[in-house]
Amino acid sequence: MAEELIIANEASKEEKYKSLIPQIEALVTGEDDLTANLANIAAALKYGMDFFWVGFYQVKNDELVLGPFQGPIACTRIMKGKGVCGTSWANAETIIVPNVDEFPGHIACSSDSKSEIVLPAKKDGEVFLILDVDSDQLCDFDERDRIHLEKLMRIIEKLI
Ligand code: SME
Repeated sequence: MAEELIIANEASKEEKYKSLIPQIEALVTGEDDLTANLANIAAALKYGMDFFWVGFYQVKNDELVLGPFQGPIACTRIMKGKGVCGTSWANAETIIVPNVDEFPGHIACSSDSKSEIVLPAKKDGEVFLILDVDSDQLCDFDERDRIHLEKLMRIIEKLI
């Protein structure tokens, strides 16, 4: 019974991404305003994937500044190397955090956040944008999220 439920959930997440990512690509194609596109992507992810919090941080000088997002209010600025987002920026790599309490230096914007995935987008080899997705459940992100959300970051990189 429990096993059936897990399989059903697994299929559902995969199917949601497979349906949603092409729709997002169609939504942003032909629009050259990055803020408008990021705002629609955040809304599409929030309502398409039922994420607790999803949003973007833009690299501005030596820090990350909050961009379009959906969910509870969040930290406005994050220094390079700080928290999960600042670490993803500094290392230019995706980070999956199964339990935020076990990530040294995690920045708690909401005490309800329990796990998260953070992904960078690059232009000319430099990170210019971070996508952060938070869940109110532990261990809510895995390799499927990484694969599909990294595809999304490649779509975003082509926008600028
Ligand atoms: N938890 C993030 C901060 C951003 S909020 O979760 C929206 C971090 O540690 O970088």
